[in-house]
Amino acid sequence: MIRPIAKYGDEVLRRTAEPVESVTPEIQRLIDDMVETMYAVSGVGLAAPQIGVSRRIFVADPSSGHRDEDLVVMVNPEIIEREGVQTEPEGCLSLPGFEGSIARPTRVVVRGLDREGDQHEIEGTDLLARAFQHEMDHLEGSLFLDHLRGFTREAILRKIRKLRRSGKW
Ligand code: NI
Repeated sequence: MIRPIAKYGDEVLRRTAEPVESVTPEIQRLIDDMVETMYAVSGVGLAAPQIGVSRRIFVADPSSGHRDEDLVVMVNPEIIEREGVQTEPEGCLSLPGFEGSIARPTRVVVRGLDREGDQHEIEGTDLLARAFQHEMDHLEGSLFLDHLRGFTREAILRKIRKLRRSGKW
């Protein structure tokens, strides 16, 4: 089921997400909804808080659904290795229409549980490393906007306020 995506301003995006106790059929349904929702909007990553569920789960796919083997499901993820720095423009499904250049590691290794509840470790480089770090931020209630400073950040906030006033946000 495709779920509505929480936008900037929704307090669920600011909460620290709760760990998942075990990967039950209910959690698997949630994961499936997250994958379906991510693909429906051609996203490369989605965290559970973005569909209003404050749990430590994210899905990512740098091919955005074009190659099945690229789908990553992570429950209770942690980053166990980080290396390098890349600075690239980044967006977020919860901040549609905006992007900002943010420094992220070029390579990370994430450990967590898969859809079956088995532990796995996945290495991500470049776009996938960026996606992993971005989705991990969501689980801590942080958004890419929080990494921006000064004029870039203010300009985005001003545009969002304007969209809100006209009922488009
Ligand atoms: Ni995001």
